[in-house]
Order: sequence, then structure tokens, then C-alpha cells
Amino acid sequence: MTMDVIETIRNRRSIRRYLDRPVEDDKVEQILEAGRWAPSADNLQPWHFIVVRDGVMRQKLAQASGWGKFLKDSPVAIVVLGDPQRSSKYHLADPHNAVMNMILTAYSLGLGSCWVDVRDMSSEQEFKKLLHVPKSMRVICAVAIGYPAEERTGRRRPLSEIVSYETYE
Ligand SMILES: Cc1cc2nc3c(=O)[nH]c(=O)nc-3n(C[C@H](O)[C@H](O)[C@H](O)COP(=O)(O)O)c2cc1C
Repeated sequence: MTMDVIETIRNRRSIRRYLDRPVEDDKVEQILEAGRWAPSADNLQPWHFIVVRDGVMRQKLAQASGWGKFLKDSPVAIVVLGDPQRSSKYHLADPHNAVMNMILTAYSLGLGSCWVDVRDMSSEQEFKKLLHVPKSMRVICAVAIGYPAEERTGRRRPLSEIVSYETYE
């Protein structure tokens, strides 16, 4: 990591506008490595990542997604799959850990990213068809990645609202 992990967690924001500047292969590889090292139940690693750079394909994925029209603008999209054959119980949850690692790593490398949900059935079916994903796999999300063309501020509920000590009340 090139940045302190706490600073990275605190300052990363979802970025939906990107510069027309390619993302270097070695940065994409570092992001994939970060996904690979995510924790998973029983260390089953029930995930697969499809790196999409092709503009025509990104345009099609953007159309197929409900809330990810900006996938057509981000130079890279990483589509994250879950594999129920590897883990019947955690094939949806564990890939989320990989996504968190990837978006934090993207930020620490100076890149912007945004998580794009693909869990509604019609988007998922369309993604599967476009990317030749086996029937048995699930599409979890797409991560749009590129050099940021916007700055965003964050907003979170205060700790006093979301934390209690020893018991709930
Ligand atoms: C499970 C999940 C699904 C998300 N899906 C989308 C999405 O489809 N489109 C989008 O623009 N942002 C999506 N986001 C990004 C959230 O909107 C964003 O993380 C949230 O508003 C907080 O903003 P921040 O990431 O800038 O702190 C998703 C985030 C998560 C964790």
C-alpha cells in the first residue's frame, strides 16, 4: 500500500466521473492482487474477476446495469463473480470482501472507483450473457475504475448513533 490504511479507509469516495486516461496494467494487477488476498470463510475464495477494458463491452454493461451508466466512461471495469460450487454458504458474502480490498487499493494508487450493483435478476442475466459466465456462477457487482475527474465529500452516521457498549441498550 502506498498510503496509510486508516487514511485510505477514511478518504476513499465513490467516483463516477473519470479522466480519459488509461489505467496502467500494473495498477490493475495490484488491485486484483488485493482482491485475491481478501478473507473468506474456510478460505474457500469463492470468487472470479473479469477485467473488462473494451469500450464496446463496457457500453453494453452500462446499458445492462441499473445504476452504473458510468461503466461506459471508466477505462476499466472489474466484474466480480461468486461461485456457489466453491462455497454454497458464502459465495455472495465473500466476494464483497474482495471488492472492499480492491476499491481501497484503487484509491491508494490514485484511482477512483465505484461499486455497481448487479444483483437484480435482469442485469445479472444480461451480464452473464455478455461475458459468457457459466450458469452456475453469480454476478455480484462491477467495479468501475479510472483516474478521477471529480472530488467528493463523505457523509456517515456518527458513532454515537451506531455503537453501544456491552449491551444494545
Ligand atoms: C453493495 C453496494 C452497492 C452499490 N451499488 C451502487 C450502484 O449500483 N451505483 C452507484 O453509483 N453506487 C453504488 N454503490 C456506492 C454507494 O452509493 C456509496 O458507497 C455510498 O453512497 C457511500 O458513498 P462513498 O462510497 O463515496 O463513501 C454501492 C455500494 C455498495 C456497498
